[in-house]
Amino acid sequence: MNARRDDKPVSFVPMRAGDVAAIGIMDRRNYEFAWTDGIFRDCVKAGYICPLLKIGEDIAGYGVLQIGADEAHLLNLCIDRPWQRQGLARTLLEHLVEESARLGAQVMFLEVRPSNTRAVALYQQSGFNEIGLRKDYYDASGGREDALVMARYLSSD
Ligand SMILES: CC(C)(COP(=O)(O)OP(=O)(O)OC[C@H]1O[C@@H](n2cnc3c(N)ncnc32)[C@H](O)[C@@H]1OP(=O)(O)O)[C@@H](O)C(=O)NCCC(=O)NCCS
Repeated sequence: MNARRDDKPVSFVPMRAGDVAAIGIMDRRNYEFAWTDGIFRDCVKAGYICPLLKIGEDIAGYGVLQIGADEAHLLNLCIDRPWQRQGLARTLLEHLVEESARLGAQVMFLEVRPSNTRAVALYQQSGFNEIGLRKDYYDASGGREDALVMARYLSSD
């Protein structure tokens, strides 16, 4: 079932401990190897930037971003299935890039599975370049999968 964004307002609100159960369900719906609720809880507790993207009253997606010194690290970015293909990941990613720059980061890093071609396309389109490879970084069915490491420099934006 698709959920239409239409002209409903997009907003960002911080994830709270009370949102974690719903976000955990969303994560399991969208990833083969999902995070546990405990990982989300730890990210909220640690003060990571964890915006929920809302369309009206509905949560359509979320991101998790860690900022340390002058580096931002994107740990999770997800748009829930019914809301996909309406430009919302690009909107969420730009919000996270703006937050990173506002908080003083010079560069934003992320890891992505090479097999996740839609995510790789999203990041390439959004100005991220491949800067390395982490061998056997992810769980995968029947073994391990490498991670592409991508970066976008923020200071010259
Ligand atoms: C990857 C994901 C975040 C994209 O979300 P989305 O809201 O559908 O993406 P958008 O509509 O903003 O699309 C932005 C770009 O992403 C790429 N893209 C998104 N979905 C795609 C698909 N099904 N096939 C090919 N490219 C796709 C395209 O380059 C697209 O630009 P275009 O519409 O101009 O072609 C979403 O599919 C998702 O949450 N997947 C599960 C979780 C995940 O894999 N997260 C990334 C972890 S690194």
